[in-house]
Order: sequence, then structure tokens, then C-alpha cells
Amino acid sequence: MTIAKLDDYNFRNKRVLIRVDFNVPLDKEGNILDDWRLKESVPTIQYLLDNGAQQIIMMAHLGRPKGEVVENLKMDKVAERFSEILGQDVAKTDDCVDIDLPYGRIVLLENLRFHKEEKSKNDWERQEFAKKLADYADYYVNDAFGTSHRKHASFYEITKYLPGCIGQLVEKEISIIGDALAAPNRPFIAIMGGVKVSDKLGAIKNLLKKVDALLLGGAMVFTFYKAMGKEIGKSKVEDDQLELARELLENSDNKIMLPVDVIAAVEPDAESESDVYSIDNIPKDLMGVDIGPETINIYKEIIRKAQTVVWNGPMGIFEIERFAVGTNEVADAVGECPGITIVGGGDSEEAIKNIGIADKITHVSTGGGAALEMFAGKKLIAIKALEQNYEKFKT
Ligand code: 3PG
Repeated sequence: MTIAKLDDYNFRNKRVLIRVDFNVPLDKEGNILDDWRLKESVPTIQYLLDNGAQQIIMMAHLGRPKGEVVENLKMDKVAERFSEILGQDVAKTDDCVDIDLPYGRIVLLENLRFHKEEKSKNDWERQEFAKKLADYADYYVNDAFGTSHRKHASFYEITKYLPGCIGQLVEKEISIIGDALAAPNRPFIAIMGGVKVSDKLGAIKNLLKKVDALLLGGAMVFTFYKAMGKEIGKSKVEDDQLELARELLENSDNKIMLPVDVIAAVEPDAESESDVYSIDNIPKDLMGVDIGPETINIYKEIIRKAQTVVWNGPMGIFEIERFAVGTNEVADAVGECPGITIVGGGDSEEAIKNIGIADKITHVSTGGGAALEMFAGKKLIAIKALEQNYEKFKT
């Protein structure tokens, strides 16, 4: 199926409605902690400016306000920062629908999620909301990779009403991740971490068909160890996934690699006593909080020799500095890997940035959940919608 790109349209003197991912991390007062996603949105906006768009109407969400106005989640600070980054005025509106648009060439609508219709389960509600948004413009652009796995009005329904295309950020994300999965240079290594096997199941199953080795970390490894009959102490476990973990191990052609040692602590907090334990020797009253030093060495050796690496999820309780060692060491090795390296958002992205090696990674994705869906071999719903949009609006 074909999807339209920016070059397929003539935007001169046209009004363009663009979905961007401005969902930036905020502190308690609503100040922006990291403006990376705003910077990643600049190339497409600049393209539209350079190609004569009459008005660029940006729409975005911030946080999860559940259909109500939340003061700290208003888009004012985002508009201000984006204006500084772009070096152009950005007019911010007080709502996203039922308003007269201001005259400015670049407009940012108020948080879409202040209206429950954006995420409504009711198709008709989403469609009516999308129609109001579509009325602002002649064309639609999706440049919000990080939310493209959501069936929301501003991604899915909107494509029924305006000719649309993907922006440069979405194009970059889907082509780099898609190409790496379709034709990886070998050895191809995947690293998966995080708390729950169930969250990563689709990705684990799909990647096992493609990779030479799958290195696992994070609390999810204890579900695998319990499935193997090992003592895991007080470590987190998903009891309803034990059978599945057993099946994955049996059918993985020995591609699944688990830690040989872990850091185990009394409690998952910064002050708790902790030590290194072999995986065959975890005391009953302790819980695993990070991968151990021997595992770090083994994983680093494999990662450094890989030609393609994809990574999603931390190796331990990354929020606590003492238990972030495994994640940071893995990040370090991914930075040293000479091959194609793709980091799929969230804590892994934070680790890469914390240790200052983002420039050594081939691609740090702006979307954790969306990248994970691609690792699971799924086509993102917003991309599918734009493929249908191409068929509908092609002339
Ligand atoms: C993200 O931050 O991952 C995206 O913007 C999606 O946000 P959501 O998970 O709240 O839909």
C-alpha cells in the first residue's frame, strides 16, 4: 500500500493541519524538562514554511487529562518554547475546537485531550470531533510518530476528511525501524527490559523470529526464572504468564539470554541493603533489582560485536541510581556498537541521554509504545489510515 509524503502535495497558499507529538516531560509546575520532541518536529514545520503554506495549524496532546481542562497541561509553555526553537511567532489558541483561528502563520491548538472525544471509544464522537478539526485546513500531515499507534480522532478519523501524508519525522522513524527489522545486518541482537513480559510479548515473539540473540533484563526475567523452577525470592513475577514464558523458552532455539547474576535488595528503594547473587542463589527474603556484573560483561561483549541492535526497556529499577548500573552499562555498549543501533524510547532513551551518547546511536526513537508495536511486526494504525487516505484522495 502507498502512503503520501510531503513532496506529493503543493502546499503553496494552503492551510495545513499537522498532528505533532509535543508530549514533553514536565515538572510538577508544568515546566518543560526536555524539549527534544519539539526539536524533532522542526524539519517538517520548516518544510511547510519553505513551501509556502499559508497557515500551519499544529495540534497535539500533553499528558493524560481525561477530557477535562488541567491547568498544568495547557499548551502555553510548549508554544513559547517551540516558538523560541523555530525562531518564529507561534499563536496559541484557548481551545482546539469551536474557535476562530487567529491570523498567525503558525498556530498551536490547545491540548486535544481536554476533549474526551479525541480518545473516545465511540466512533461517531471521534468523527464529529475530527470533522471540526478538519474544517480548519486543506491538508493533513501526521508527524507524531510517538502516538501513531493510537486510534484517536487526530490520527485516525481525521484521515477520512482531508487529503493527508506523513511528515519527515514519521517517515524517518518508520523507514529506519522498518528497514532494520526487514533486512538486519548480522549478528542482529535485541535487548528487552522492563517489568512485565506481558507488555513486551508481541515484540519478544516477533523479534525471536528475526534475531540471533534476545538479551533480557528487568523484572520480567523473574517470570522466566520462576517458569524454570528457580527460587526468585520476593522478585516481581507475573504468575499468569508462567506457562507462556515456558513456551517461549522451549521454542526460542536458545536465542533467549537471561542474566546469570542479579543485584538483589531487601526493598526496591535507594537505602535498602543489596548485594550480588548468582541466579541460582537468590535468598528467599530479597528481590531482584538490577542485572549483576557478570551479566553486564556478557551482554556488553555480545552488544559490541553486533551489526544491528534494537533496545527497549531498562535492565533494573532505573529510577533509583544505585540500580540503574545495568541499564547504563548496556547503554554504554550500545553506544560502542559499530552497527545500526535503534533505541525505542522511554527509560532506554533516558539512559542514552543521561550518559551523553545519543549522538553515537543510529536512531533514538521519539516513541516508546509506537516503536514497540513496530518491533512486534505490526503496522501502526495511523499509518494504515493514511494508506487508505491515499487511495481515497488520489487524483
Ligand atoms: C508518548 O509520550 O509516548 C506519546 O506521546 C503517547 O502518549 P500516550 O501514551 O499518552 O498516548
